[in-house]
Order: sequence, then C-alpha cells, then structure tokens
Amino acid sequence: MLEEVAEPQPLPGESLVAIEAATATHLDLTVLTGSFVARPPLPYVPGTDGAGVVLESVVHASGTRVRIRGGGVGIGRDGTWAQRASVPDDALHPVEDDVDAALAAAFFSPATTAHVALHELGALARGERVAVTGATGAVGSLVVQLALHHGAADVQALVGRAAKLDSVAPGARALGPAELPDEVDLLVDTVGGARLAELIPRVRPGGRAVLVGYTAGVDVTFHLPLLLASAVRLLPLSMLEWGPRVAHLAPDLLRLLQTGELRLPIDRRPLSELTSALADLRAGRVVGRLVLLP
Ligand SMILES: NC(=O)c1ccc[n+]([C@@H]2O[C@H](COP(=O)([O-])OP(=O)(O)OC[C@H]3O[C@@H](n4cnc5c(N)ncnc54)[C@H](OP(=O)(O)O)[C@@H]3O)[C@@H](O)[C@H]2O)c1
Repeated sequence: MLEEVAEPQPLPGESLVAIEAATATHLDLTVLTGSFVARPPLPYVPGTDGAGVVLESVVHASGTRVRIRGGGVGIGRDGTWAQRASVPDDALHPVEDDVDAALAAAFFSPATTAHVALHELGALARGERVAVTGATGAVGSLVVQLALHHGAADVQALVGRAAKLDSVAPGARALGPAELPDEVDLLVDTVGGARLAELIPRVRPGGRAVLVGYTAGVDVTFHLPLLLASAVRLLPLSMLEWGPRVAHLAPDLLRLLQTGELRLPIDRRPLSELTSALADLRAGRVVGRLVLLP
C-alpha cells in the first residue's frame, strides 16, 4: 500500500537522494513479511537497492548520480521504494551520468551473485558443462551469460514455466519444467525446493552444486546414501558474506551490461503500480529484475 510519509531528514553521515529507480526483489518480500534474519523497526519503507540523484550531502556534490546499496538500507532502516530517501553516505556509489537509472539500481546484486556462484564458489573451468535453474530470472540469466562468456562448453537453462523458454539467453539450451538436464559439472540452483533433489543426481560424481535461492520452496529432502556416494559438493552462497568481497567488480560488470556484452532483462513499472507489480513478482510472472520508477 502506498502512503504519503514525512520528507526524510538526513542525520549526520547521511545524504538525501531523489530516487529515480528502485528494485523490488524476493529479498524485499522476505524482509517485508518479517521472514528475514534482520527486521527493520516499523513502520518502514522497503527497498534494498536503488539509484538516484544526490540532493543534499556533505560527502557527494549535489546532482551526483548514485546507486544505493548497503548500510542496512531496506533491511534495518528505510529503503528505496519512495521518491526521496535518506541514505548512509557509505551506501552511495557514484555512477556515470550516462548509466540508465534502472540498470544502475538493478545490476549489482544479480551480477555479483552470478559471478560468485560461477567463479568464487563454483570454480568454473573453461569447457565445463553447466546447468542453471530459474534461468530467466535476474541472477539465473546472468549466470547463463557469464558461464558462456567464460567458455563453458554447454549451458543448460532450466525454466519453471514453458512460457519463459523463449526468454532464455542465446547460446544456452533451454529446458522446460518437465525436463531434466544431461550430466553437468556444475549446477547453479536459484530456485531451491523439491526439484533440487532431482537435479543433484544430474551433477557428475565429484561435481559442484551452488545453492543461491529458494523461491520454489525452502525445504528439500536428500537420499543421503546417494548424495554421499556421488560426492557432489553442495555450496551455499551468501552475498551477505560475499557482497563486500566482490564490490570492486561492480564497475567492470556494469560496463559489460552497458555495452550489451551482457544483458539484464528489466521489467519497469511505475511505483504507483506497486501492488500489481508485487503480485507479479510473487507469482513468478516477472522476467528479469523488477524495477519501480517513482
Ligand atoms: N544467496 C544469496 O545471497 C542471494 C543473492 C541474490 C539472490 N538470491 C536469491 O536468488 C533467487 C533468485 O533471485 P533473482 O533475483 O534471480 O529472482 P528473479 O529474477 O525473481 O528470478 C527468480 C526465478 O525463479 C523462478 N521461480 C521458480 N519458482 C518460483 C516462484 N514460486 N515464484 C517466483 N519465481 C519462481 C522464476 O523462473 P521460472 O518461472 O522459470 O521458474 C524466476 O525467473 C531469489 O530467491 C533470491 O532471493 C540469493
């Protein structure tokens, strides 16, 4: 529900930003339903990521274009689903004037998560075979593209709805909801749930499975004798741990997205259509990253 609230008043160490774009993600849904490990004081404005223009700041010149991420924004304090936000100075990251605001708001989490999944945890080597679930989602689509970019021999892109088969990135093999992948060296699972147990046996003995998300379900049951015999390494990914360690990659990843070498599908909606936008996000009808435009 949208409400008029008081104009935010920056405290020392904070800047006032006019929001141009704000992402809406499953993390936001988890926080706003009180299911996340941290809970903001109520009432609060959701939104962990955004982009905008600095209005008032001791650190940044007025008019500086910034993306917003970190400092507890949208998790432990008010976030970006608003026309204006008061943001800790260290959560503001200047971007070039020509960067699209929606892309600036949206790229950091999926691009760095995809990088960590493939390289830091997945240890992808050229010529390996990869399967990706949620392959048209923001993270999944970038995992697919970065795997191909890095020289994976075969990338199998699993989608949960047949309607999304055409949205899979070129170069990957699109697999529908009823299909199982051929054997892979690396599985990157962004949806979780019961299907994960079906997919683990498709990973070669001694291969790796990186666990990223759980939009399709939080519970999974493994047949331990088979899992242990397969020696597949289950590698849970937490960007709370990895985010700061890979933040330096942001400019290069953004450049690849700006030049079109990588593509992040963005579903832009006016902030005034928040209710229907969130319904679509919950129902899996969004392709790529949902971005709210105040
Ligand atoms: N571990 C971490 O630190 C970390 C970091 C970033 C993101 N994540 C998590 O990774 C997951 C994917 O993130 P994302 O940004 O790529 O999300 P997204 O853009 O919304 O994509 C999620 C994909 O999951 C699939 N899906 C399967 N079941 C679904 C359901 N019941 N409801 C909605 N979608 C469903 C959808 O594709 P189909 O319709 O084709 O199935 C959708 O494309 C999320 O759970 C997110 O919280 C975790």
